[in-house]
Amino acid sequence: MENSLTHSTVLLNEAVDALLGNDFDAQSPESPQADGTYVDATFGRGGHSRLILSRLSPVGRVIAFDRDPDAVAAAHAIDDDRFSIQHAAFSQIQTLPGNSVDGLLMDLGVSSPQIDTPVRGFSFRFEGPLDMRMDTTRGESVAQWLATAETNQITEVIRDYGEERFAGAIAKAIVARRQERGPISTTSELAQLVADTVKTREPGQNPATRTFQAFRIFINAELEELQLALAACLDVLKPGGRLVVISFHSLEDRIVKQFIAQHARDAYDRRDPFAAPKAMKLKALGRIKPSEAEVKGNARSRSAIMRVAVRTQA
Ligand SMILES: C[S@@+](CC[C@H](N)C(=O)[O-])C[C@H]1O[C@@H](n2cnc3c(N)ncnc32)[C@H](O)[C@@H]1O
Repeated sequence: MENSLTHSTVLLNEAVDALLGNDFDAQSPESPQADGTYVDATFGRGGHSRLILSRLSPVGRVIAFDRDPDAVAAAHAIDDDRFSIQHAAFSQIQTLPGNSVDGLLMDLGVSSPQIDTPVRGFSFRFEGPLDMRMDTTRGESVAQWLATAETNQITEVIRDYGEERFAGAIAKAIVARRQERGPISTTSELAQLVADTVKTREPGQNPATRTFQAFRIFINAELEELQLALAACLDVLKPGGRLVVISFHSLEDRIVKQFIAQHARDAYDRRDPFAAPKAMKLKALGRIKPSEAEVKGNARSRSAIMRVAVRTQA
């Protein structure tokens, strides 16, 4: 189980097997040691990185990324010459040399320590400043953005990233409250305002769930980051290199699914129909969800979907 300092890694064995090319053989004791260079684009608390390291030969490498300074500080506890961590957004994998990576793993979203630390402002369950930045060293917090954002922009964010029916009403309430009493600055103020505005709630769900998700995705440019990293993976992965992405909501999974599908077929140029097609760059290997046992032990894994693809020769 999780507490505020730990993160229960989702699809741990499955993701590492898929990354190293052990083809979903989750517990294979005969897995050979890998020599390659693997990127853990979302270090978090290092569950995946540590397992990858345990399966690498002395010449293997793990290059990890995280934009959260707390995650980077946690990574410094790994004392292993084969491991390095970069404090950077994972779109920066584009700075790695082309054709240099044998496998790239992205375990998207937020970690349990981020959600469960009140001062980070990610959760309506805790009173805290309305921040929600993964990288606390740069950028605007949600509170700062909401202090000046237009009603239309707030509506779009809540509607597009939260898939919230009452986006317009919530945005109007945020702006009205700002004009009457000053901007919202805490998680509980936002949660209360949404609860007062949204009269119906989905069973078992806090009425502010969708709004919090939307603001988090927006303030961290999560979908843009994902698109940039996926595009970069085509350059940095070696032929035969694996792409493994674990998503936690449909907006992310749709992007990953469409990206793999788009590059997993020969591309014809409509303006030049007789030209040879551009060969496919990826081959989809599979889609996997956590087992019932995993979901029972870690409720957060419930919505996870992992997709795996391999970079082809083209
Ligand atoms: C679900 S957690 C990863 C957990 C990790 N696999 C583990 O086992 O501990 C996601 C992590 O990715 C980081 N992250 C999310 N989006 C990122 C991005 N665009 N660039 C870099 N790090 C990102 C978050 O800060 C968080 O620490």
